[in-house]
Amino acid sequence: MAKPKYHVLVCTNTRPPGTPKGSCGERGAGEVAGRFFELVQTQGLFMEVIVSGTTCLGPCTMGPTVVVYPDAVWYGGVKPSDVDEIIESHIKNGKPVERLKFPDEIWGA
Ligand code: FES
Repeated sequence: MAKPKYHVLVCTNTRPPGTPKGSCGERGAGEVAGRFFELVQTQGLFMEVIVSGTTCLGPCTMGPTVVVYPDAVWYGGVKPSDVDEIIESHIKNGKPVERLKFPDEIWGA
């Protein structure tokens, strides 16, 4: 088995309703992860990309959060309908989806 080119982390953490930060799970992250899994399978990308559901990645209020490595590109507010564009543009063509990237300011840059 060849080393995959990309690793996609999808935060699927879910907190109880009413918690201050909320969570990606409450915002539909399960469906986002499901769409990634579906497209990786149906498009035969399983040798190039691994998709993993994770616990909290940090920027909860801006989730669902998705990170694509090795590029270290962080996406926020990802909807299931955005996943097709991430796969097509970023994973297949190496061009991150600018409109979904977290602004650099959240990292204090
Ligand atoms: S719950 Fe997803 S980043 Fe914290």
